[in-house]
Formats: sequence, C-alpha cells, structure tokens
Amino acid sequence: MSDKKNFYLTTPIYFCNANLHIGHCYTTIVADIIARYKKMRGYNVKFLTGTDEHGQKIEISAKKNNMQPQDFVDGIVEQIKNLWDLLDVDYDIFMRTTDPKHVSAVQKIFRQLYDSGDIYKSNYEGWYCTPCETFFNERDLINNKCPDCGREVEKTQEEAYFFRLSKYQDKIMEFIKKNPDFIEPASKRREMINNFLKPGLEDLCVSRSSFDWGIKVDFDEKHVIYVWFDALLNYITALGFMNENNLDYEKFWPADLHLVGKEIVRFHSIVWPGILMALGIKLPKKILSHGWIIIDGEKMSKSKGNVVDPKILIERYGVDAIRYFLIREINFGQDGTFNNRALVNRINFDLVNDLGNLVSRTNGMIQKYFGGEIKNFEFIRNEQIEKICFDIVEKYNNLMDEYKISEALVKAFELICFANKYIDEVKPWNLFKNTTKKNELASFLYDLVEILRIACVLIYPFMPNTPKKILEQFYLDESYINFDSLDKFGVCNKNVRAKKSDLLFVRIDIEKELEELKNIKK
Ligand code: ME8
Ligand code: MG
Repeated sequence: MSDKKNFYLTTPIYFCNANLHIGHCYTTIVADIIARYKKMRGYNVKFLTGTDEHGQKIEISAKKNNMQPQDFVDGIVEQIKNLWDLLDVDYDIFMRTTDPKHVSAVQKIFRQLYDSGDIYKSNYEGWYCTPCETFFNERDLINNKCPDCGREVEKTQEEAYFFRLSKYQDKIMEFIKKNPDFIEPASKRREMINNFLKPGLEDLCVSRSSFDWGIKVDFDEKHVIYVWFDALLNYITALGFMNENNLDYEKFWPADLHLVGKEIVRFHSIVWPGILMALGIKLPKKILSHGWIIIDGEKMSKSKGNVVDPKILIERYGVDAIRYFLIREINFGQDGTFNNRALVNRINFDLVNDLGNLVSRTNGMIQKYFGGEIKNFEFIRNEQIEKICFDIVEKYNNLMDEYKISEALVKAFELICFANKYIDEVKPWNLFKNTTKKNELASFLYDLVEILRIACVLIYPFMPNTPKKILEQFYLDESYINFDSLDKFGVCNKNVRAKKSDLLFVRIDIEKELEELKNIKK
C-alpha cells in the first residue's frame, strides 16, 4: 500500500542491573530525535530499544536484592519503560532478551552455528570483567584492570564454546575498508582497524558454565550463552528472525543505523559483523558512535556512583529543556561534561532569552498593536526573509541527514536568533506610531509567525512538546508541524491571531538554584 522508504534504527539494549542515569538517556534521546526526524521526512521508521537481561552481573544484583533474577529484571524493565515515557522517547519496539521468542531464536542460531562448525567447544582461560561482561587477554589489561572501565577483572577458567571470529577477520577488514561510512566517526573506524583488526582477531568465547542466568545452550544445558552473543542478536530477533513471521525482518533488515556509545563499538563493528557473516546475513549500514557524559572528569556510571537522576531534572525543568541541553551541550560524537551551572545557563540564555522571548514578543505585539487579531491586510512578500528561512532549512536537513544533530540544533536556533534581530531592525514600535504603516506592521508580524512555524518544525525532533505550545498561542494546530510545507513561505492563515499565554520557559535564579541542587544531592 505504501511506497515509503523503510528506516530501521536501534539503540543498544540496556543492562538491567540498576536504575538508569542521564548518561544512558543520552543514547535513547539521540535515537528518538533521529527517529522523529526521519518520520517527518516521510520514512516508515522502526525504532528499536530494549533491555539486556541476562548474565552474571544481573544474577549477582538480583541475589543482592534477595530476588529471583526474572522478578528482579521485571522490576527494572518497568522503571526503564517509565523513564522513556517521561523523556518522550517514542520507540516502536521494546525488546526484552527474556522474551521467549528471542530465547528460542538465539538457541536455534547457536545450534546452527555449532552445526556449521563456526561454534566449537573448548576451554576458556583468561580474564573477565563482570560489569562490562567482557573477556580479556592478559595483554589487553591496563595495570591489570579492565581496559574499558578500569575496574578489577577476574581470572576465569571454564569449559566454554567459542565462535570462530578469527575466520572472519579478513572479510570484516575488507568490508570496513570498502565501506568507509560503516563506522562513524572516522576516529573510531581507525581505532577498530589499528587496535583490533590489524593485530588479529581471536575466537570469541560465547558460553559460560560457572553460573546460571542466561539462555541455555539447548544441546548442552550446563552452558548459558554469553550475554553479548545473546544481546546482539536482539537486533534481528526483534524483527521476527527465526520465528514464523519474518515479515518485518524482510522489510527492515539490514538496519540503517545502530547507535551505540563509544565503549561498545567493537562489539557492534567487529563481533556483530562476524556473527552475521557466519549466518550469511547482510551487515547493518552504519554503526554510529557517540561520546560519554562526563561528570567531575569521569564517565558517569552506575558503579562509580557519580550519576545524575534524570527524573529529578525532568521534574524541575521539563523534558524539552533536558533534551535540548544534552544535545546542545555535548557535541555529538564527542564526550561532554554535565554540570548544573551549564544546564541552568542554557535554559536561561537559549530557551528563555532567545526562543521564549521571540514567542512572547511576537504574541505581545499582535495583542498590543492589533488587539490580538490581524484582519484584512495585504501580505508584502519579503524575499530576503524567505531566502534566509529556506537556506537554514536546507542546511539543517543536510546536517540531520549526516547525523550531525548538535549542529542541526544550532542551525535551528540560528533562525530564532535571526528573528529576534529582525524585530530589532524593523523597529515595529515605530511602524505602530505611523498610521500609514499599519499594513507593513501586519505583514511584518505575519513574517514572524511564519518564521515561528518553520522553527517549530525544525526543533520538534529535539523538543517534542514546545512546538505545540508555541503554535497554540497563535491558534495554530499540530498539523503545522509538518515538513512538507517547509519549502513555502506564507502557509499560515492570513488571519493572524494570538492569545494571552504562559511563558514558554521561566528564568531561573542561578545561584539559588545551584544551592538547592546541592541540597538535593546530599
Ligand atoms: O552496553 N554517557 O548496555 P549499557 C553516554 N547491554 N552514554 C552512556 C553513558 C554515559 N556516561 N553511560 C552509559 C550495554 N551510556 C549493553 C548493550 S547492545 C547489543 C548491548 C550508554 O546499559 C552506553 O554507551 O551499559 C550505551 O550506548 C547505553 O548507555 C547502554 O549501556
Ligand atoms: Mg555500559
């Protein structure tokens, strides 16, 4: 029925051992922004997120809480879903690795690879980082600690199944070389080639036999399948792969985009391709890596206890402000620091001074100069204004299409800043004093409403609630949040109206606020 292009994007599935912090939210917010943008551009989008529920660390966390692992993860999943709701993360599929369909598909895949000789039984001897659920060789360790998270690693020795990753080394290298856009940013691509592929890949241990909480190898029940092998497969089992109904798999695979934090690029760009090659399946089109949220100089992480609770921030400032801050402050692809002062400053400067002010000035002028309704004026086209708008839209689209989302957001706000300057240049208060300039004044205000309409569309993926609130002030409904009319100027009804409204964003007394936040932290 529809000839829409499909677009499949994924976040990693979240480890289910504790509550999530604002660092985790970063990944889903970015994914949600890309999904909303693609939907607006007319794609048939499938946006997958979910939870990674097996493995030793979850078994340990459940025990600590005196709970069965299944009950424990059920509780965490509930909280994670609530958090995504609070953050307006509008996913299409929420995948749980304890889902029986996933479990049986993973077992079938494991058996298939065993039968084909790509999985074999041997003994594992080496190091293991339980928080990262990652195996390491002696030579990988840094000061005898985990090279990824810096925590203690354990010596592990157990009977285990292995995946013949080494067999795919040349094919993976060839693929990465032939597809320069497969891993982004380029620095990550170089790291994968130089640090992992060139020194040579070793076979990967894909089962554990020293604990219980995982998907059983169905032909050797002493073993549970290694949690990363299990987890990566969610990207295809979520689409029904290896289940009767493969319709979504056929439609949406290969994925257009796997969005991942920088510490798990290796799993996605080397291990995952190896597994897919062994299965004879196409590789995803892109692995896009983002940086970390840093706090006090360190990666924000559950185990370090340096976390910021997103719920508190959403309660105090609203979800749109938080989403705005994270994307604006952290240049996408790089690490960025979270701190309260920067957050409050962004709200005060960008959202109150620039955006909020533009809306209230425009609204105020329509009320003051025209009693809230402009009727029967003749629109005077201003080609210069139109050109500035179209130009910004085009640049914004190019940036979004390249996933340069922080820069795209800055572009959208350029339009807002431009409109504020436009007001200062035109000096409408002078036009108002001159009775022969009434039509000019009306036409100018109409320009502002049109600019706001366009700005609403551009900021919508980032701030899904604010555009509605802006448009309502001018009696415009949500149908104006629409990409199809971005190449036109003069779309809104020429009967311009504005109503008395609350401020979009309220200025925060920064010193008082920082004091209060300090007390909350205590
Ligand atoms: O890695 N800043 O799950 P996870 C930015 N289960 N992003 C951060 C962050 C921070 N301080 N802390 C975490 C896993 N993240 C596996 C994935 S996929 C087959 C299996 C991001 O719960 C992290 O980079 O440890 C990742 O993208 C996401 O949160 C989930 O991390
Ligand atoms: Mg992690």
